[in-house]
Amino acid sequence: MLAIFFLCLIVLSAVTASIPEDGRLNFTQLAWKYGHRSEEFDVTTEDGYILKLFHITGNEPTKPVFLMHGILDSADTYLLRGKKSIAVNLAEAGYDVWVGNVRGNKYSRRHVKLNPDKNKKKFWNFSLNEMGMYDLPASIDFILNKTGQKKLAAIGHSQGTSSFYVLGSTRPEYNKKISVFISLAPIAYLNDVGPVVAGMMKMWPLISGFFERLGYEGVLEDHSAANQLMQFICSQKELGYDVCGKLGLGAIAGEDSEELEREFFDVVLGHYPAGTSRKAFAHFTQIHNNARFAPYDYGIVKNLFVYKSAAPPAYNLSKATMPIVLLAATNDMLSGIRDVQRLKRELPNVVHYHVMERKEFNHVDYIWGKNIDVYMTPLLRDLLRKFA
Ligand SMILES: *[C@@H]1O[C@H](CO)[C@@H](O)[C@H](O)[C@H]1NC(C)=O
Ligand SMILES: *[C@@H]1O[C@H](CO)[C@@H](O)[C@H](O)[C@H]1NC(C)=O
Ligand SMILES: *[C@@H]1O[C@H](CO)[C@@H](O)[C@H](O)[C@H]1NC(C)=O
Ligand SMILES: *[C@@H]1O[C@H](CO)[C@@H](O)[C@H](O)[C@H]1NC(C)=O
Repeated sequence: MLAIFFLCLIVLSAVTASIPEDGRLNFTQLAWKYGHRSEEFDVTTEDGYILKLFHITGNEPTKPVFLMHGILDSADTYLLRGKKSIAVNLAEAGYDVWVGNVRGNKYSRRHVKLNPDKNKKKFWNFSLNEMGMYDLPASIDFILNKTGQKKLAAIGHSQGTSSFYVLGSTRPEYNKKISVFISLAPIAYLNDVGPVVAGMMKMWPLISGFFERLGYEGVLEDHSAANQLMQFICSQKELGYDVCGKLGLGAIAGEDSEELEREFFDVVLGHYPAGTSRKAFAHFTQIHNNARFAPYDYGIVKNLFVYKSAAPPAYNLSKATMPIVLLAATNDMLSGIRDVQRLKRELPNVVHYHVMERKEFNHVDYIWGKNIDVYMTPLLRDLLRKFA
């Protein structure tokens, strides 16, 4: 009976589900489709992870801009809006655009020694902390070396902002390599979040235990069973968009379906989620539960061993002296205004703070919004002109 039901679902999905072309192209193919050549580089971190770094070629290397994606995302995110997207727009404005990927996502599932499928416990033993301490320095040094510049401008979204705050606090020598860091949906604190996000954080031990039992250390990976199921449900013609795009994403990121139309949501499904570690999720739930921006909490006994203190020492944000722009939004259910204001008070060098005018503006409009060319890319170009 159940088998027949699933068979029907599969047949139904084959007929009705549709991932459009842009949902199936990789970074280089998308760049090409929208008029740009892209180079692919492998960057190795101090701790052996091999990251994919993309470069859109054609511009003078004098004005490098480095883009960093959010949680479970990849470099693709900066191209998904095609001609309107941030990467294409900045390249057309003359900037030398570099787009990174953090360890564990679909482009960066590699390590000099460890195999993500065989050495699971070791490979996936990372969180935001390692992204900030190792992935960003390796990518930044690579770009500066290739361009022969002393500084670059950077733009990050969500977790992509958190990793830069970790970088500035833990490796202060990198502050002087960054002319300006533009934070889209800044996250250091995770307390002013929507009720669904708060609920998911509470349920995390349960979800995590479930993944652990299944032997998943990497979660929501590209082509994983969980992803296929989600894609299957969310790309259904009739209800997929309403259930996943409006309700689901709306509850997590803030509802703004006007900016995330059905056709585009299907493109997003082809690229997102792109995988991260269970530990990276756990780390964010700790940041929420403890109301502290601090490294991973192993529990008292192991903390004493790892940090020489019962609790991990909070990241010292006053060491993150790079010039920082904070862009926030009132309908963002992940990066709440109160959290951003707390961050603003603790960062020593915020050069600009701006709350997006549109009151429906949510967590993903910065990168995926339909009118990104009206409210985002002109703003980014202004900010780069002024501060980079
Ligand atoms: C993207 O696709 C092109 C064409 O199939 C391929 O040559 C390239 O290696 C792919 N890049 C990545 C990073 O997957
Ligand atoms: C994970 O990393 C922590 C901190 O570096 C270390 O103490 C721990 O032993 C590692 N766990 C595994 C399974 O490698
Ligand atoms: C880049 O790195 C290479 C190899 O380490 C080094 O020889 C070269 O001088 C560096 N270039 C710049 C501009 O720093
Ligand atoms: C944080 O960093 C600042 C600037 O380097 C320093 O003065 C301060 O003592 C540090 N705070 C802690 C708690 O380590």
